[in-house]
Amino acid sequence: MRRKIKVAIAGVGNCASALVQGTRYYRNNPEAAKPENDWIGLTAYNLAGMEPSDIEFVAAFDVGSTKVGKDLSEAIFAKPNNTVQIVKDMDKTGVKVQKAETLDGIGKHLSQKVKIADGPAVNVTQALKDSGAEMLLCYLPVGSRRAVQYYAESCLDAGCAFVNAIPVFIASTPKWQQAFAGRGLICAGDDVMSQLGATVVHKTLVKLFVDRGVKINETYQLNIGGDMDFYNMLDEDRLEDKRISKTSAVAAMAPYEVPMRIGPSDFVSFLENDKVCYISIKGQYFGGIPVELDVKLKVVDAYNSAGVMIDAVRATKLGIERGISGPLESISAYCFKHPPVQMPYAVAKANFLEFVAGKRDR
Ligand SMILES: NC(=O)c1ccc[n+]([C@@H]2O[C@H](COP(=O)([O-])OP(=O)(O)OC[C@H]3O[C@@H](n4cnc5c(N)ncnc54)[C@H](O)[C@@H]3O)[C@@H](O)[C@H]2O)c1
Repeated sequence: MRRKIKVAIAGVGNCASALVQGTRYYRNNPEAAKPENDWIGLTAYNLAGMEPSDIEFVAAFDVGSTKVGKDLSEAIFAKPNNTVQIVKDMDKTGVKVQKAETLDGIGKHLSQKVKIADGPAVNVTQALKDSGAEMLLCYLPVGSRRAVQYYAESCLDAGCAFVNAIPVFIASTPKWQQAFAGRGLICAGDDVMSQLGATVVHKTLVKLFVDRGVKINETYQLNIGGDMDFYNMLDEDRLEDKRISKTSAVAAMAPYEVPMRIGPSDFVSFLENDKVCYISIKGQYFGGIPVELDVKLKVVDAYNSAGVMIDAVRATKLGIERGISGPLESISAYCFKHPPVQMPYAVAKANFLEFVAGKRDR
């Protein structure tokens, strides 16, 4: 009998859709488990005995009228979600999306696109307890500070781990770290770092410049997309944490201060869930000679985070089984942009693998 990982989701948007579909995609494609394909999208197909299909969704929360009340397998395809479909015949999950408190989850832009479902909100703590969820994945819109804190508190009360995919700082904040440690619970995050996304590419390029002795004079990273994440991020007032998260990940790779501007830049509706990123780095090498690098990266955004979250979920399950509490440092540094401790990518990956192998505590 395989061991299952009982997972709840807050926010049934594009990222949740890619994650839920991804678990089915790998289950339905035994080819993916072959050693030569093992690397596709995951650190390992089988990580410490756990496969993607061992993730069992036991609860889901949203506020949108197109999603609340539907089976999770249908809600992931409800508008305004617009990521691509990789699984044709989704089987029912048996999990109905429950209505939660909106709080600051829907900002001034999203409120033009999302109608709040009628009816009362459930008690999330109780719903988590009833579902037997071992961890909650937080996929709320950027800028949902109060709503994220509400879910973190609900996890503390329900005895559930908290894995935070969004740039509101929980796992990287001492107050919350202590709160989770005090209840014997795990937190991991913050702000998932996509598999081949703007942050890891930019971090790695900056580190390469530094390692090769090139002095970086300035750098920027512009991002555009056509999904609700980008529509919501047109509101600069909601972006403070997102800019801090993305900028700190890149800034940590240089041993000196580099002038930089990094963040979401515009909404282009016809891009749908495609995200286009432009990175520019200017510097000087031997003899003060100028060098300039420009990179364009185009990805389907939601799928770029799904494999990383499957790794984070499995490693969090290992942490729970080992009785660890508080922030998970190696997992957070490997899978998230704003972890408790920033590390170069290669170091974070080595630490993550040591953690999985039981050679590292957290
Ligand atoms: N590769 C990636 O896509 C990536 C990478 C890093 C971070 N993120 C972050 O992950 C988050 C989710 O991204 P997405 O593309 O799925 O966004 P999305 O807008 O498609 O989904 C967000 C969902 O949250 C719901 N919601 C709003 N308030 C809520 C509340 N109070 N309770 C429950 N649900 C609520 C919305 O109705 C929506 O369904 C965003 O913050 C995004 O910035 C994504």
